[in-house]
Amino acid sequence: MLTIHLTILSLTILVIIFSDFNGLLWLLGRKQQLSKKLFTVLHWLVSIGLVGMILTGGYMAYGYGTEALFKNYVFGTKMFFVAMLVINAYLIGKHMHLSFEKPFKELSRKEKQVLMISGLVSTSAWIIIFVLGKMLF
Ligand code: HEM
Repeated sequence: MLTIHLTILSLTILVIIFSDFNGLLWLLGRKQQLSKKLFTVLHWLVSIGLVGMILTGGYMAYGYGTEALFKNYVFGTKMFFVAMLVINAYLIGKHMHLSFEKPFKELSRKEKQVLMISGLVSTSAWIIIFVLGKMLF
């Protein structure tokens, strides 16, 4: 199951790197708009990857038993950041239409802030969860 956990992780990270690279080009003004079709698919792929991580991780966690995991602070912290990723994925889904409509520089200050914060939260949470995963047992 760990192999599946890590395979889903590798595939999801490839999709994230591709998406973030294109998002960065838009943010820097190298791209005027992002493709609605492509980014709707990419958002779905990352969401499916996240669900896959939760299912395979949940299966392994179940195997370790709740008592062992409740005492494990690394696991608790990892789950906190996983919850943040889920909330953030929802927020990105709600705001990504902005990148299909106009260039980044034409967004309001608040819109720019929301997108930049959710990008930052997403990248840092994936990295933190990866490191915590390595520290689990
Ligand atoms: C975005 C989400 C996640 C990422 C990036 C992630 C990443 C990782 C990584 C890097 C490892 C270490 C693999 C190794 O030792 O080489 C790991 C292990 C593990 N993960 Fe996750 N994980 C995620 C979500 C979850 C979730 C939601 C759960 C539980 C509900 C979970 C439970 C576990 C468990 C129990 C292990 C230890 C398996 C073992 O060593 O026997 N993970 N994860």
